[in-house]
Amino acid sequence: MNNLLKLTITAAALMFSLTAFAQQSEEERVEALLQQMTLQEKIGQLNQLSVGGFDPNAAGMMRAGMVGSILNECNPKVLNRYQKAAVEESRLGIPLIISRDVIHGFKTMFPIPLGLAATFDPELVEQGARVAAVEATASGIRWTFSPMLDIARDPRWGRIAEGSGEDTYLDAQMGVAMVKGYQGESIDNTSMAACVKHFVAYGAAEGGRDYNSTGVSERTLRNVYLPPFEACVKAGAMTLMTSFNDNDGIPSTGNGFLVNDVLRGEWGFDGFVVSDWASIYEMVNHGFAEDNKRAGELAFNAGVDMDMMSYSYISHMEELINEGKVSMETLDNAVRNILRIKVRLGLFENPYIDESKVESTFYSAEALEAARKSAVESAVLLTNNGVLPLNKSKVKTVLVTGPMADAPHDQLGTWTFDGDPAHTVTPLKAIRDLYGKDVKVIYEPGLTFTREFNENGIAKAVKAAKKADVILAFMGEEAIMSGEAHCLTDITLKGDQRKMIEALHATGKPVVVNIMAGRPLELDFEIAHSDAILYSFHPGTMGGPAITQLIFGDETPSGKTPITFPKNVGQIPIYYNHNMTGRPYNGTETMLYDIPLRAGQTSLGNTSYWLDTTFEPEFPFGYGLTYTTFEYSEPSIEMTEYGAGDVIHACVTLKNTGKSEATEVVQLYVRDMVGSVTRPVKELKGFQRVTVAPGESVTVRFELPVQDLAFYGIDMVKKVEPGKFRLWIAGDSASGKPVEFEVK
Ligand code: NOJ
Repeated sequence: MNNLLKLTITAAALMFSLTAFAQQSEEERVEALLQQMTLQEKIGQLNQLSVGGFDPNAAGMMRAGMVGSILNECNPKVLNRYQKAAVEESRLGIPLIISRDVIHGFKTMFPIPLGLAATFDPELVEQGARVAAVEATASGIRWTFSPMLDIARDPRWGRIAEGSGEDTYLDAQMGVAMVKGYQGESIDNTSMAACVKHFVAYGAAEGGRDYNSTGVSERTLRNVYLPPFEACVKAGAMTLMTSFNDNDGIPSTGNGFLVNDVLRGEWGFDGFVVSDWASIYEMVNHGFAEDNKRAGELAFNAGVDMDMMSYSYISHMEELINEGKVSMETLDNAVRNILRIKVRLGLFENPYIDESKVESTFYSAEALEAARKSAVESAVLLTNNGVLPLNKSKVKTVLVTGPMADAPHDQLGTWTFDGDPAHTVTPLKAIRDLYGKDVKVIYEPGLTFTREFNENGIAKAVKAAKKADVILAFMGEEAIMSGEAHCLTDITLKGDQRKMIEALHATGKPVVVNIMAGRPLELDFEIAHSDAILYSFHPGTMGGPAITQLIFGDETPSGKTPITFPKNVGQIPIYYNHNMTGRPYNGTETMLYDIPLRAGQTSLGNTSYWLDTTFEPEFPFGYGLTYTTFEYSEPSIEMTEYGAGDVIHACVTLKNTGKSEATEVVQLYVRDMVGSVTRPVKELKGFQRVTVAPGESVTVRFELPVQDLAFYGIDMVKKVEPGKFRLWIAGDSASGKPVEFEVK
C-alpha cells in the first residue's frame, strides 16, 4: 500500500469513528471512552497541570495520558502543540480542557466584578462575559475560573473586588449572567465553561484576612452563601471549584457534605469539581491530613474530581485504589464527570484553534463599546453638591490630577493577566480626546502612584489648580492593593492622597473626586473635602471615556452600591441584610463625647450601637445618586393575603422630578416579620433598571412568587413560613415606606 492510500484510509477511519462517536449521546460517548481507559489513563484525567511555555516533559505526560487539563498558558501556538500531544499522540486522543483565570475580560478588560455588580444590569454583564469568552476561546481557553460567587461583607478582604458584594440575590443574578455569557446560549467553539467558586463561604474569612478560617453555620450557608451556587448550577454551570478555607473546622476541599450531598445529591450537578490551587495538599497545613496521600483520599472521597496542582491524585491515586481507600466506582464517576464536560464543550470535534484568527478577535469595536457601557453603568455617584455634571459652557479650564488619572495598568484592577495596558484609555487621555476642544486641560498628577508620599507633587498640583475652574482628582488604589491575598486593615486612601485632597479643597476651587478602587473605602474625609465623589471601582480598559462622559454629562450615573460602605473599619462587618437584635438601636443614644465626665453607671440606653461612631454606614447597599431626582410613591400590592402558590404583584410610581433623563435601579425588598429563626431586617428580592424622562412618571411592576420567601428555618427544611411580611420598593436599602401582607 502506498503512503497516500494509507493516509486516506486512516483519515477515512478517523472520520468514520469521529462521526460514529458524534452520533452517540453524551453519556454513550463518555461510557465508550471509559471502557477503553487503563487505570493510569483514568487517573491522568484527574490531573491539572500549570504550564508556562512549551515544556517537552509536560507534553510527554500528555502523550502518556497523564494530564486532563492545563492552566496558565495562553499562547495559541503553544496550546495547539499541547493539544496535539493529547489528541494525536496519546493512545485515546482525549483532548485537554485548557483553562485560565478570565475574570473580568480576557483582552478587553471590563470593570472588576464588584463594579459589574454595581450596574444591577445582568444583561450587560452577560454581554461582557460573552465578549470575554469570544476573545479567550479564540486563543484556546475553553474553561475560565469565574464567576466568583463568594458573598463578602468585609472590605478588608482583598478578594471582595472579585465578587458581587454582600447580597445573595444580586450575587445570584450576576453569577447566572456570567455563566450564560461564558458558555453561550448554545455550545459552540466560543463556549467557555464557567467555574463557580469558591465552594464555600471563602468570603467570610475571619478578620478579612485571605485564606482564613470561617465559621458559618449550615443554616446561614443554606440561606446566604449557597443560593448563588445553586442558581448557577441550575443555569448550567459546567464546573465548580472548592475553596481554601476550613469552615467550622472542615476544609472545603475535604467536605463531602458540601460536594457529594448538597452539590450532587440535592442539586443534581453533573459537571466536575476542581480543587483550588494546591488546596488538596494544603489540608496537610490545615492539620486535617497527615500527608498528601491522605489529603488526596479525603478530597477525592469528598467529591473533588480534579486536582489543581497538589500532584496528589497523580502521585497516590493508584495506591489508594489498590489499598481500597478509594473505590473504582468513585474513580470512574470522577472520570465520567470530566469527560462529560469535554464532550459537552465539543472539544473532541474542535480541539484546535485557528492561529491566524486569534489577534483579529481582540479589542473589537463592539467589545470596547460593551466595556465602556459597563464602566458607565458601574460608576456610583456618591455625593454631588451640584458641581456635576460639569457645565461645558462655563468651565473653561480643568485641572486633571491624582495618581489614577493616567494609570493604564492600575485602572484595570485585579486579575488582569492578559489585558494590555497599551489599549487602556485613561481619564487623562479621554478628557483630552473627547473634551480637549471644549476645555483647556492642565495635567499635574500631584502623586504618581496611590501609595506615594510627595509634598512637592502636591504643591505643584495646588499651584496648577489656581489656574483651573474645576479640579478633577483621580484617586484610589493601585490594582495590586486588592485581589487574592491583598487584604488591608486600614481602608482609607493611602499615601498622601488625603493630604492632597485637603490641599486642593483649600484652594476654594470645586473638587470632583473620582475613586477607582477594588473595595469600598472609608470616605468620611473625602466627603468633607470635595464637591462630588464618583466611585468607579477599577473600571477596565474603557474606564477613561466612561468616567469623563459621566463627569461632563454626556452619560448619566446609574450605578448603585453593591455593598455597604462603612463609615470606618471598626464597623465591619456591616451589611444591610443583618438579623435584628433584641435591643435594636433607636437613634437616641449618647455618643462618647456627650457622656458627662465621671458619669459612673450612667445608662446609655443599652441598645446595639457604638459609642464612637454612628450606627448607620456611610452609604447603604443599593445607594447611588444621579443627575436628576426621583420620587417614589408608596408601593401597592393587589391583596393583603396570599397562599404559598401565589404570585405577589407589587408596583410603585416612579417620578423623575428633576431636569434630565436618567435611569433608576428600582429595588424590591421584603422582611419576614416573625420566623422560626430570626430573619434579616430586609432582603432584596428583585430589581429593575428603569429610564424616565424629566417630569414623567412610570409605573414599575414586580412579580414576586410567594415561594421566593422560602428559607431554611428551625427544622432546616426550606419553606415559606406563614405570617406577616413587609415589602418595600425603593431606590436603596435604607429608604422607602413598606406595605404589609400576610402569607396564610
Ligand atoms: C487560586 C484562586 O483562589 C482561584 O480563584 C484561581 O482560580 C486559582 N488560583 C487558579 O489561578
